[in-house]
Amino acid sequence: MHELTPETITDAVLEQMASTSDPRLKEIMASAVKHLHAFARDVNLTPAEWLKGIEFMTAVGRTCTPERQEFILLSDTLGFSALVNGLHDRTAVEDATHTSLLGPFFRENAPKREAGAQIANKVVPGTEVALWGKITSVRGEPLPNAQVSVWQTGADGLYDIQVDASGTDYRGVFTTDAQGNFVIRTVRPIGYSIPMDGPVGALVQAQGRHGMRPAHIHFLVSAPGYRELVTALYIKGDAHIADDVVFGSSADLVAELKQDDPACPLKGIPSMRFDLTLSRESAIDQATGRVGADPAAIFKEKASHAASANEAAHTAKPAKPGLFGALFGR
Ligand code: BEZ
Ligand code: FE
Repeated sequence: MHELTPETITDAVLEQMASTSDPRLKEIMASAVKHLHAFARDVNLTPAEWLKGIEFMTAVGRTCTPERQEFILLSDTLGFSALVNGLHDRTAVEDATHTSLLGPFFRENAPKREAGAQIANKVVPGTEVALWGKITSVRGEPLPNAQVSVWQTGADGLYDIQVDASGTDYRGVFTTDAQGNFVIRTVRPIGYSIPMDGPVGALVQAQGRHGMRPAHIHFLVSAPGYRELVTALYIKGDAHIADDVVFGSSADLVAELKQDDPACPLKGIPSMRFDLTLSRESAIDQATGRVGADPAAIFKEKASHAASANEAAHTAKPAKPGLFGALFGR
């Protein structure tokens, strides 16, 4: 038995957790405890400060609904989502277009649209732009029939679901042609503020940060045999490309809005070209998953886990294998 002091408590916790049977859960929790304890020692955390932290996390949890995921927003504003994305990119077997945040406004059921279709329900005159490009492998082989899902704000800086939770606007799923090309009509998005009316917004304000994201358009691209790509294009010239509050923008994802590009298949409107490359899929991709999710899907998952936990309690089945099976899979 150790004498428990601020110096020995970490080893005591690690010793007790050494019986964890899932090796990945064991590794993650051991590292989390080491870093968490080191953080408390580093700042000499007081009980009152820790209680404030607990109050904050409780408020973050209470702010989550099927329409809003305040924990994802917290992860985003701490740069954690961008870090996990970057680590995920490094596990790809090929160096393809880099990922960017999925964000909290992705929805699973965007409408399928024909090439060249407008994704905005109503177009404010003067805001229409074309978005076009090619989806290829990293060797430049075109990927026909790839699914290209895009979503963005309107020209007012708001997503459809911020205006009307049941609305569908500024979204669409396109399919690439035989040469891997896609072409979309949309409206020019503008930079916008992340939701600032919750605990994460209060923290961002307390830190003297502006809370803005640069103008961008989200992409989710998939093709059989290739790693799914979650990314975004950022419009050149936006004032917040270099200080995005959620660290999603990056120099390699910037596209230029051209007034009159003769190469664009849609004529008479400004256009942006954004070519994307996909990495070949590998066994790792089955296990790693996306960074971020439709908030409604997280709620649904939670509900089905609760239902199956209930079932397990009654039938005493063994824990399911897989991602932290013993913790979430019962
Ligand atoms: C977005 O791009 O939609 C977004 C990403 C992270 C936090 C808030 C918004
Ligand atoms: Fe966004």
